[in-house]
Amino acid sequence: MEMTGKTNIDVASVDEALTTTRAVRRRLDLERPVDHQIILDCIDIAEQAPSGGNQGSRRWIVVRDQKLKEELAELYMASAGKWMIEAHDNIAGTGHPQEKVMASAAHLARHLVEVPAIVIPTIIGVHDGSGRPGLFDSVIQSVWSFCVALRARGLGTAWTTAILSREDDIATLLGIPEGMTQIAMIPVAWTKGTDFKRAPRYPAREITYVDGFARTWEHGPSDPPRHADGPGTIVEVDIKAPAALVWPYVSDINFGEAASHEFAGARWADGYDEPAVGAQFIGSNTHKAIGEWDVPCFINYHEERRSFGWVTSDPDNPGAQWRFELASIAGATRLRYSVVLGPGPSGITAAIESMPDKEARILHRRIDEHRANMQRVVDAIKAAAEADAAAARATSGDRSGSRPPLS
Ligand SMILES: Cc1cc2nc3c(=O)[nH]c(=O)nc-3n(C[C@H](O)[C@H](O)[C@H](O)COP(=O)(O)O)c2cc1C
Repeated sequence: MEMTGKTNIDVASVDEALTTTRAVRRRLDLERPVDHQIILDCIDIAEQAPSGGNQGSRRWIVVRDQKLKEELAELYMASAGKWMIEAHDNIAGTGHPQEKVMASAAHLARHLVEVPAIVIPTIIGVHDGSGRPGLFDSVIQSVWSFCVALRARGLGTAWTTAILSREDDIATLLGIPEGMTQIAMIPVAWTKGTDFKRAPRYPAREITYVDGFARTWEHGPSDPPRHADGPGTIVEVDIKAPAALVWPYVSDINFGEAASHEFAGARWADGYDEPAVGAQFIGSNTHKAIGEWDVPCFINYHEERRSFGWVTSDPDNPGAQWRFELASIAGATRLRYSVVLGPGPSGITAAIESMPDKEARILHRRIDEHRANMQRVVDAIKAAAEADAAAARATSGDRSGSRPPLS
């Protein structure tokens, strides 16, 4: 199938700009002046972005004056910069997953005052908190265009918002009237070198749902969808506990039994007694239409505190592929539980073979059943891990309480 139509746009260059517009902090060239016209050119480009009602309500403030930059840098330091520097000092050299980002953020906090131009995009209006669209959504896409246009010219930006907790101070400093909303603070400078890379992100297929939330397809989908397309689903939950407390439940092959309406427990296959890539266990299941059955499971992902997965029936032609993934997000662990059916046969194969014209409906129904059970399992993991986290906090609280009082 044709993947691009005929246009006068160089797709590769556009894609390169869109995929390599990074948050540049350490590689901002603080020595080289930025001509005002470049910024204006990029604002002209950015202004082509859509806006609700086609109303041009964006107003851009470029801060170049050294005294004003000093004041902005101070506000940034007070809002989050100081914290970023301290956080980086605490994790420097530890291999912490946030170490690189914090080093970069701390660098910007230290050097903001030296950045040639600081751009604060604003929009006329104040969000009414109604949840209706119509303010941020008429400006954010434009500011991103601005960043990409600068990137194409060899300049770097970093989208920052920490300073917005001092929005009133910024308004006083720059004389921004009431009724305006500040969107971000974007340092702008030439970059040291122009080679920037794509960042690791979820593949589109894992976060793109077709015709209903959380319906994924490993291939296609065909019209109508088929088992061979690899139907799947995902549930996600944010758990207020560190990954270390979530991991024991995720990697316990029996944990889901109490929660799931289908999974009826598991036992290690002969010769195996703990989770590891290559280890095997037997899962037992029960379903009112399919009956009771055991299925051999082969662990194919086992990265402590990060991922745990297995395939069923036949590792070379699995009936289903199951996976837990853990990610640290601010103050919590995001647990993602996914399944992809096939490519091999499974419990629904007989039903599809006997009613081939109902294949899509059978798949959707089965996926919805899996999703409901998976949700029960992640909810149970969340409850257990959060209870453990609360208990750990209580214990450490007791310990601090047993310290002699400060005098
Ligand atoms: C809404 C938002 C707020 C951000 N705020 C800050 C900030 O205050 N300070 C900072 O140094 N970076 C900030 N960033 C930049 C992110 O840390 C950065 O985009 C992220 O680490 C990913 O890096 P990348 O943009 O190079 O892919 C912010 C980004 C976004 C989207």
